Amino acid sequence: MPPAYQPPASTAPLLEIGNLTISFAGEAGWVPVVRSLSLTVAPGERVALIGESGCGKSMTCLAVGRLPPTDQACLGGRIRFEGASLLDDPAAMARLRGRRFAYVFQDPSASLNPVMRIGDQLSEAMPTGHDDDGTPPVPRHARHQRAMELLARVKLPDPAALLRAYPCELSGGMQQRVMLAMALAGSPRLLIADEPTTALDVTTQAEVLNLIDSLVRENGMSLLLVTHNLGLVAGRCDTLHVLYVGQVVESGPVAAVLRHPAHPYTQGLLRAVPRLSSVGSGELHDIPGTVPPPAQLPPGCTFAPRCPYRDTACDEAPALLPIDAQRHCRCHHPRLRHGVPPAATPPEGQP
Ligand SMILES: Nc1ncnc2c1ncn2[C@@H]1O[C@H](COP(=O)(O)OP(=O)(O)O)[C@@H](O)[C@H]1O
Ligand SMILES: [Mg+2]
Repeated sequence: MPPAYQPPASTAPLLEIGNLTISFAGEAGWVPVVRSLSLTVAPGERVALIGESGCGKSMTCLAVGRLPPTDQACLGGRIRFEGASLLDDPAAMARLRGRRFAYVFQDPSASLNPVMRIGDQLSEAMPTGHDDDGTPPVPRHARHQRAMELLARVKLPDPAALLRAYPCELSGGMQQRVMLAMALAGSPRLLIADEPTTALDVTTQAEVLNLIDSLVRENGMSLLLVTHNLGLVAGRCDTLHVLYVGQVVESGPVAAVLRHPAHPYTQGLLRAVPRLSSVGSGELHDIPGTVPPPAQLPPGCTFAPRCPYRDTACDEAPALLPIDAQRHCRCHHPRLRHGVPPAATPPEGQP
């Protein structure tokens, strides 16, 4: 058993997102898909963003690197990384992206260049010395050796042969390990992993998640992990933000939120985590209804149409308010008044 993870004590956040709003042009004007979202990631902290598809998780991650399609999207608010203001200063952002923070996306086959050998793609991801970010450059003659080391760090066998291979010769799990190696090439302080295992089969998913876990610990990196499966964050992340239609509806330390989810949406997501004991017992739950499109949000509480506890108070949009020293919830009826339904217990194997 590895020792319990202790994030380094530090007060200054590495990443600070404040009041982030992302809107796309719609038929009747700008349609916000991320609304006044704020979060921080401290050095060494592992933060999870969770929510169903369409809740704005990817857009939030992409905004850090100013990657949403800027011709269609309008970004507002504040994003600071190591104190540099990324939204106001595209040059600072370009300098830091891929170096101080790096991405791993959902589908490795779409991220890798199909006509370039793995070794060349790894070499391209290495600092050149022209990056002006303090990262020591990797000289041309040392790149082969460095690429071998990076492949070994992501536990890929026979790195020498792999360097000559094309992406199509690798399995999905191997491709995602190559993506991780490319992300590590710039020695980032923050790894942003957006559903990094969704495209992989179940056994490979666990391997890649465990690899991310150990790389983050070994390198003292911070992690921003996006997933739609609440069962994956237990033991892997310190802090959790639950997103619903572009807003944080609950946030707090992972263990506390999993033990006593306060928002009915978080409770529903937890009940939807499949457990071995529920197979064949008819105990698989889902959240009734679907996520509304951003242009057709219901008035008042946006979760109310799917919520078992809705009442007339929910005609007013709730604010995100503290429910204890470390937790926030956007609900007129958080756990403290309702009690947690019996099925909303942490996933199997968790305390
Ligand atoms: N290019 C675009 N134009 C308009 N809407 C978009 C565009 N890209 C994404 N969206 C919308 O933004 C919302 C958030 O998307 P996304 O961040 O990808 O969700 P998630 O990652 O949580 O599944 C979705 O409703 C999606 O339809
Ligand atoms: Mg996404």
